Formats: sequence, C-alpha cells, structure tokens
Amino acid sequence: MNEQSIFDAYSPKDTSLLIPLLQDIQEEYGYLPEDQLEKVADHVGLPLSRVYGVVTFYNQFRLKPLGKYVIKVCRGTACHVKGSLEILRTIESELGIKAGDTTKDLLFSIETVACMGACSIAPVIVINGNYYGGLTPKSIHKLIKQCKERG
Ligand code: FES
Repeated sequence: MNEQSIFDAYSPKDTSLLIPLLQDIQEEYGYLPEDQLEKVADHVGLPLSRVYGVVTFYNQFRLKPLGKYVIKVCRGTACHVKGSLEILRTIESELGIKAGDTTKDLLFSIETVACMGACSIAPVIVINGNYYGGLTPKSIHKLIKQCKERG
C-alpha cells in the first residue's frame, strides 16, 4: 500500500482511527517518520502534540527506523539463568549501542523480549526471525561478524 492509499482508506477527521492509521504507516515505513505524523494529525484532526502523546505511550510505535538486522535478546527466566544478561551486554558492547537502539549505519537494532518459547536452547537470541541458542560471548562475536560481512 502506498502512502496516499493508506490515507484514502481512513475517513478524515475521525479520531477513533488514529491508532490503526499509525499502525498502517509504520507497516509501510518500518517506523513513523515525522512528516507522516504531521499528515496523520492533519488527517484525523488532532494537534500534532496529541499524536505524539499516543505514539510515545504505546511501545508498539517507533519514531526511529530499525536496523537491517534486528537482534532480539530473550530476557525470560530460563535464558536469564543461562546468562542472557552477559549475552545482552556482549551484543551491546560489540555494536556500541544499548537495547532499544539502532546503530548509526542502520545495520543493527537490539531489542529485549520475554520468553520466546525456546527455553530448551537457552540463552536464545533471534536475528530477523532466525533462532540461535546455547550462546556464548564468543558465538555472539561470530554471529555479528557474519551479519557485518553480509552487510
Ligand atoms: S526464557 Fe528465553 S526462550 Fe524461554
């Protein structure tokens, strides 16, 4: 769906459509660009500050683009017991960013998540939908290197 058809799908000046409209914009762009938020505010008939208020309230919305590789680090109990904090710290230090951030070159984002249902192979991370288990700081280094080589 392109930008115009997204807006065309929503009746103007209907504030109840704010969240679904934001969801569609984020689906299209991968995040919510500022100029799109201005258009959304205009379309639904709310001040931009109200739209920002909603966007920052719900953590499903992103104001910055995600990296090409999204690394989800499981922080559930089983993974925690098996050292997921050390895994997270290793990834953060390899990439020079914290969980919730994206590298400047837009190659990597780090997110923390609750149990991903793969406790038997804890500690677990998921990179773009692929599961990696039984991780150590050394295997993390290798995985990140492989991603960087693929670019
Ligand atoms: S706690 Fe990490 S997969 Fe279950």
